[in-house]
Amino acid sequence: MAIVDDIRRFWDDDAPTYDDAPGHKPRSPAVLAAWTAAVAHLLPAAPARVLDCGAGTGFLSLIAARLGHDVTALDLSEGMLARLGAAADAEQLRVQVVVGPAELPPADFDAVMERHLLWTLPDPVAALRAWRAAAPAGRLVAFESLWGDADPLERLRGRGREWLRRARGGAPDHHGAYPEAVRASLPWGSGTSPRRVTEAVAEAGWRTARLVRLRDVEWASTAELPLPERLIGVAPRFAVVAR
Ligand SMILES: C[S@@+](CC[C@H](N)C(=O)[O-])C[C@H]1O[C@@H](n2cnc3c(N)ncnc32)[C@H](O)[C@@H]1O
Repeated sequence: MAIVDDIRRFWDDDAPTYDDAPGHKPRSPAVLAAWTAAVAHLLPAAPARVLDCGAGTGFLSLIAARLGHDVTALDLSEGMLARLGAAADAEQLRVQVVVGPAELPPADFDAVMERHLLWTLPDPVAALRAWRAAAPAGRLVAFESLWGDADPLERLRGRGREWLRRARGGAPDHHGAYPEAVRASLPWGSGTSPRRVTEAVAEAGWRTARLVRLRDVEWASTAELPLPERLIGVAPRFAVVAR
């Protein structure tokens, strides 16, 4: 069985509960407003033709569509995209949905964006290169977090968050664990960092990369947490923007 089939099946199975995790779909108007400000600030002026790679249930696509962009949402998982389509319909937003691999994107965009897709790609640099062809005169906006083995302190914090979640009997973020064989085969399957992302963006041929820390998103998200979770805080969020 190809790795891509395992990945697709995981996300199809995750689709029914994906939006239950606050990090996947904010319940708080303040957190949503902070994300909206970040997306508005980093994308070109609306209306632009924007491709959302690994769009999932539509976290970025819905924000961009509300801002007036012409959005195409690309994802491997029909289950995730079905949720996105339903959410867009409920708000009467127009988002074009495409089922397919991020490594073979459609063309003619002013910007390509992604959030939390790069870690689950077998070859992040190849995908970043393909996105250049999808927006040859355009912009890349990659929304990522610092987590896992990319940073020892963040790994400890992540363990602390997980320990507190279990102690409280809280629901996990996903329906199950990522298949270990899949995770082991992914270059960033155990963590991403600003350094990994900016290096890959440059290797893929994108120019003038800018690193932006999403402090307002972190601040608004941390303010929603109870103690002692608030002391640990949320994973550092950042965006890499290039052209
Ligand atoms: C962690 S979720 C992120 C979803 C969304 N971007 C968000 O911020 O909530 C990863 C998404 O990437 C999709 N995905 C994984 N590998 C993919 C690939 N090679 N091509 C397209 N989508 C992929 C999954 O189906 C899933 O919807």
